[in-house]
Amino acid sequence: MTNDNLITAAIDARKKAYAPYSGFKVGAALLDEDGRIHTGQNVENAAYPNGICAETAAIAMMVQQGGTQIIKIAVSGGDGSKLCTPCGGCRQRIREFATDQTPVLVCDASSLKSNLTLGDLLPHSFGPENLG
Ligand code: THU
Repeated sequence: MTNDNLITAAIDARKKAYAPYSGFKVGAALLDEDGRIHTGQNVENAAYPNGICAETAAIAMMVQQGGTQIIKIAVSGGDGSKLCTPCGGCRQRIREFATDQTPVLVCDASSLKSNLTLGDLLPHSFGPENLG
């Protein structure tokens, strides 16, 4: 699985976003430990706080299929001047199934813009092993 495949999957997922309120479409694609790609897109709601992020949707798809590890994840946002990095809540949700070294490929609507890791985005994080 190349980064390009994962990036293309995130860009394609973004096209299915339901974002009538913000107009900000986001897609996500993650690779699990079995080599499967799971995708998601943001799904907004008239009761605004009930909307869900693309990353959260993709993680739910992975868990539904029995995946337990995020090997890498790509996120595709709009073509604005700022990166579409995962929000704080999604960083923590990714953390549940990932490590500091897990690549987070941050893309706009058509290509890779920044190749980060989860540790870059969420240093000194709290995860399942911290409970032990
Ligand atoms: N959004 C995501 O789906 N992922 C992110 O990482 C950032 C924000 C969505 C939530 C909302 O539907 C829209 O983008 C604007 O915040």
